[in-house]
Amino acid sequence: MPARRRPARPRPSPARLTGCLLLLLGLPSLAVGAAPEPLAESLGTGIVRFHADAAARDAAAPSLSMVAVLPSPDAAPTVLPEFYRVAGRAAARIAIPEGTDLYGTGEVFGPLRRNGTRTVCWNHDAYAYGGDTPHLYQSHPWVLAVRPDGTAFGVLADTSWRTLIDLTSGILFVANGPRFPVVVVDRESPQAVLRGLAELCGTMDLPPLWSLGYHQCRYSYTPDDRVREIAREFRARDLPCDVVWLDIDYLDGNRSFTFDPVAFPDPARLDADLDALGFRTIAIIDPGIKLEEGYAVFDSGETVDAWVRTYDGAPYVGRVWPGDCVWPDFTNRRVRAWWGGLYADFLATGIDGVWNDMNEPAVFNVDSKTMPEDNVHRADEELGGTGPHARYHNAYGMLMARATREGMLAARPDRRPFVLTRANFLGGHRYAATWTGDNVASWRHLDASLAMVLNLGLSGQPFAGPDIGGFEGKGDGALYARWMGFGALLPFARGHTGKGNIDKEPWAFGPEVEATCRRALQGRMRLMPHLYTLMREAATTGLPAWRPLFFADPADPRLRDVDDAALIGDDLMVVVDTSPGAGDAVPALPAGDWREVTRHVFGDVADPDLPRLYLRDGAVLALAAPAAHTDAAAAPVTLLVNPDRQGRASCAVYRDGGEGFAYRDGEFGLSRITAVVRGPHVDLSCRALEGDWAALSGAGSVVLLAGDAEATVDASWPGSFDLQP
Ligand code: NOJ
Repeated sequence: MPARRRPARPRPSPARLTGCLLLLLGLPSLAVGAAPEPLAESLGTGIVRFHADAAARDAAAPSLSMVAVLPSPDAAPTVLPEFYRVAGRAAARIAIPEGTDLYGTGEVFGPLRRNGTRTVCWNHDAYAYGGDTPHLYQSHPWVLAVRPDGTAFGVLADTSWRTLIDLTSGILFVANGPRFPVVVVDRESPQAVLRGLAELCGTMDLPPLWSLGYHQCRYSYTPDDRVREIAREFRARDLPCDVVWLDIDYLDGNRSFTFDPVAFPDPARLDADLDALGFRTIAIIDPGIKLEEGYAVFDSGETVDAWVRTYDGAPYVGRVWPGDCVWPDFTNRRVRAWWGGLYADFLATGIDGVWNDMNEPAVFNVDSKTMPEDNVHRADEELGGTGPHARYHNAYGMLMARATREGMLAARPDRRPFVLTRANFLGGHRYAATWTGDNVASWRHLDASLAMVLNLGLSGQPFAGPDIGGFEGKGDGALYARWMGFGALLPFARGHTGKGNIDKEPWAFGPEVEATCRRALQGRMRLMPHLYTLMREAATTGLPAWRPLFFADPADPRLRDVDDAALIGDDLMVVVDTSPGAGDAVPALPAGDWREVTRHVFGDVADPDLPRLYLRDGAVLALAAPAAHTDAAAAPVTLLVNPDRQGRASCAVYRDGGEGFAYRDGEFGLSRITAVVRGPHVDLSCRALEGDWAALSGAGSVVLLAGDAEATVDASWPGSFDLQP
């Protein structure tokens, strides 16, 4: 816990709600008034929930982000929000100490550091978005604030209504809806604040190992033979890949849960062929259900009265890919159960994972690009009961992903579901991974994609990545190679591109680019023990695998706005050149004796399109052999050792079956590998930290990075050896 600070009192601020801000929310410009001291209740260590007053507390709707939290009365607030009312809507402002840097705010395009920005939480089909797009596909009303001394606090505006996050002067939330609670997590470091966010909003479940492999997608691979051809090319060219994706053209007339009888006549056969090549398949399922009698999903949805309604009680009809559509009301338990039930037969065709798209929900034939705000959801009482779309809009995609995940689990209780969703809400990482939507094949988007993934991680979503290579626009080989170079190491690594666009497989830009892609993808496979360990850490603590560089030393002001370098875990730094041309800009480096390990991960050829990797002193990096896919991946075969001044280095390695839930009954091993270097003598010990599995053991090469030159020795672990005979 940080030492108790006097609460920073916000400066009088109502006048800050300028006409411009109100316009962003579609509000008239009205006078505002300050409220009295808020009510505070403790939700955990360093976590306080505030309500504007007792009436606001009593009227507060259930949280759509948080898992059950038990309030206790002994709150000791260190950061005080100030609540306002604006035209019947609510605002809350939190003052920040000078020199405080702000992050998070979810899926946002632009720099990592968010000071000075405005973001509107309103899930939106933001095709080819850019710096001016006020809202993207997801909403995370959450800000992480890092004080100059490296202590940090996070602020959660617990509302699902359209909400402005204004970071131009302190932290200001303005919601286009009723008054809302504000939750503050005040702890000793940004890492500790993120753990607090996970205590509030839960963590993702451990994903199947295969979902950490590389994914290849396009809109669309069709017919089925083209899918087979893509899979065969990856194997023939020795390019690691785990998953090939089916975008909407596999569907029969864009009807969810169907297969085009001509282009995909035998899905089970396709699955068997892909299985034989070691490929998983992920298929897209959109929420817009074609309004068509005789289409089984429409008919059964009618039977269960599944559709979102207009304010006058009729099913809402809008246009999306299939033509006129209706939308399941995922806020309703009965509807989620019906939807989940649709997956049993669908998955039986061999589909391994599900991609939920267009779930903002996107509607083509209206200016708002989504359904009317006065549409009616018949939501479960626990979610807040019947209410307008304005209240449930931002949660629609999250609840769709939840229904999908629950349906997959019911259909295949022994397998970990993998769901990818485009729309989501704070807390929705519990149900699905995400990607950053329809980006553009440009250097600006390549650059921004790194900060986007980092800010998603700082907003509770650890499993994210962009469309590597860019969805809209062609780009060229140079852009593609550079994007694949670091994109291949992101938590979710998928190449994708739009309909009618040029091919964007790793071989599409010629042999040189293909060689870069091979190095990058093989690098991912070598790093798999590390990545899997980090995803397990994310699943237990909420800390994302990719972390901003300032996590290495939150008190170092030089690191606060670095967004062309990051940390993969605590000890592996990745430096990315995000501009065209082979620059060798060196970002501000955190203190420590970081040793370059690029060639150990990517191979010996110096390739300017690959990021540079550095290992912190005191750390071991365990690398596997570069298998074709994760099922073929083996235990670590190389240990890179960068001892600290005391000659010690260590790391944790997590292992389990890669699939299923036996790990919940102890069928896993978390081991600590420790190297102690004394002169020429090296001791490698392996200790079991958690789980029923014996401590890790193995054999291969040990690379000692200390001193002027590296020393590589064949060794087994645990064990001892001398560097020189
Ligand atoms: C929009 C998605 O963002 C994109 O990734 C997908 O390819 C198209 N929908 C078609 O399904």
